[in-house]
Amino acid sequence: MDLMEAIKGRRSIRKYKPDPVPEEVFGTLMEAVKWSPSWANTQCWEVIAVRDPKIRSELATALSKGNPALPSITEAPSVVVLCGKKGVAGFKRGEATTAKGDWLMFDTGLAMQSLCLAAYSQGLGTVIVGNFDHKRVAEILGVPQNVEVVAMTPLGYPATEGIAPKRKESSEFVFHEKYPGKE
Ligand SMILES: Cc1cc2nc3c(=O)[nH]c(=O)nc-3n(C[C@H](O)[C@H](O)[C@H](O)COP(=O)(O)O)c2cc1C
Repeated sequence: MDLMEAIKGRRSIRKYKPDPVPEEVFGTLMEAVKWSPSWANTQCWEVIAVRDPKIRSELATALSKGNPALPSITEAPSVVVLCGKKGVAGFKRGEATTAKGDWLMFDTGLAMQSLCLAAYSQGLGTVIVGNFDHKRVAEILGVPQNVEVVAMTPLGYPATEGIAPKRKESSEFVFHEKYPGKE
């Protein structure tokens, strides 16, 4: 699949078929995560693949009723929870290198985009879910204190096509030479 086609064609999918994701296809997605860029190649990401329907039902309790992705957590055959090891990305000898501190949100974001694009290229659907009770998910999955739960996505074959929400025109976010200021 052409890269621009993947970037533009990938949609958030919130309705899934029950068919399981073949193990080799899941392996391809993990290759996409593996080859993502990261701060000084620190690769802080960790992935928890949840297929057990009982654990997925527990995960669903961490989402609010108003989250449109809620049904997909139990409907899809699997959920991928993306975590990041704290104090790794953006750190040198235990000290933060920049004023931004931990870059784990950035690096796990890159990994998530790789995963979603690779999933799309394999005919699979994803929807990045960030709005949930992270502490609760950490408890359910037994994630230790030094690891941050960042986001999750259901993973499976789409039961519907996603609708593309409108994007800003590039002229609204691209500036030249300097940030536009007062004249
Ligand atoms: C960091 C992040 C968190 C998100 N959290 C949620 C969420 O909790 N629930 C949900 O339904 N969609 C969530 N989304 C999906 C966005 O709503 C979606 O990507 C956006 O509307 C653009 O649509 P598209 O992915 O089809 O291009 C999230 C996306 C990102 C990048």
